[in-house]
Amino acid sequence: MAAAGSAVGLGNIWKFPYETGANGGGAFLLLYLLFIVVFGASLILAEMVLGRASGQNPVGAFRSLGGGRWPLVGYLGVFTGFVILSFYIVIAGWTIAYMGFMLDGSLISGDAESIGAKFSAFISGGATPVLLAGLFMVATVIVVLGGIGKGIERASKLLMPVLFVLLLVLIARSVSLPGAGEGLRFFLVPDWSKVDGGTFTSAIGQAFFSLSLGMGALITYGSYLPKTTPMPGSAAIIVGLDTLVALLAGFMILPAVFAYGLDPAAGPGLTFVTLPVVFSQMPAGAIFGFVFFALLFVAALTSAVSLLEVVVTYLVDETRLTRRPAALIAGCICFGLGVPSSLSQGAVDIQIFGMDFLTAAASLTDLLLPIGGLCTALFVGWKLGPKSVALVTNNGTQRFALATVWLFILRFVAPIGIAYVLISGML
Ligand code: PFF
Repeated sequence: MAAAGSAVGLGNIWKFPYETGANGGGAFLLLYLLFIVVFGASLILAEMVLGRASGQNPVGAFRSLGGGRWPLVGYLGVFTGFVILSFYIVIAGWTIAYMGFMLDGSLISGDAESIGAKFSAFISGGATPVLLAGLFMVATVIVVLGGIGKGIERASKLLMPVLFVLLLVLIARSVSLPGAGEGLRFFLVPDWSKVDGGTFTSAIGQAFFSLSLGMGALITYGSYLPKTTPMPGSAAIIVGLDTLVALLAGFMILPAVFAYGLDPAAGPGLTFVTLPVVFSQMPAGAIFGFVFFALLFVAALTSAVSLLEVVVTYLVDETRLTRRPAALIAGCICFGLGVPSSLSQGAVDIQIFGMDFLTAAASLTDLLLPIGGLCTALFVGWKLGPKSVALVTNNGTQRFALATVWLFILRFVAPIGIAYVLISGML
């Protein structure tokens, strides 16, 4: 459940709809699903195995099971954790503001244009979004310091079904708007003329990001698993839940985008502009809106906890730091990196690689996560080899019907497929 909480987050509800919108719709969706099916479940299982077999953080796991230069893969994961968390807290901070905007009514009246203008004014406002990112970082540190979060796990068990129901209500609202059919067509019918190498990179990056894959989050969580937990089933549940929530978010946002004449390629603001318009035009919209952003906040928190947990377990295991200073230091560094991300949304012109800082950080993770996944596949498929099947099945005491397919994917399909996608994207 904690791993599912890590997977389901802003990636599903904020990133997936805008990436789909920016990358031409249906064709992106198909590529994303393809990558989830072919690489997703197998690599999740690979990471969990590394964690459970070693009982360690990503760096320690690669060191104790492989030695040599393999720990570099773990270091890459810890670095990726910093990069993701730095912009994740910025978007999560927006969800805090939105709870307020729903309650005070300031974003719940008006048409798409005026709501879009208010959103832009808010994110370019300088101090407020930065402070909210900081507040979210503090919340994440508090949860991580309370252990792996019994409370948060219990809360998300309760809240996930509520989020699910709310998504269904909003989908019903969105698809029944006049003009929604155009959005459904955009989402579901592939237009291959819009696909290029960049679409492939975005789709694979989105698949990994959404599944929390490629940076050792699942190694870290796997290290807490008892030897008796059947892992293939857990991996399948994580993939199923995560993909379902992303699809629901697509059905919630994209029909409304077309119905209201918004630009599907608008980028990171898409969810944050479209939903308030939906809430503005439904009965008790302010209450629905508040509950929705509160749930999104919790979903983001359970994901952020897993990101920080990777960094903290690394610091605790590999340095002299204890948990408390490790979490505080990591939190401060992530917040420090988050400040330019937040400011780059209109307050200050901070560009890197020709993109604003936040977009650059998000694009970098689209590259780093698949690279981490590729290395993990090579490690489990070749370095551990058949031994990894024994580790999954707890020395043959548990069933794993697809062991041969799994090993084949890790040895051949994932390394060749991921390398092909990344290289074609760069070219
Ligand atoms: N999967 C999370 C989401 O979809 O919001 C983001 C994430 C969490 C990515 C943890 C990577 C990770 F290790």
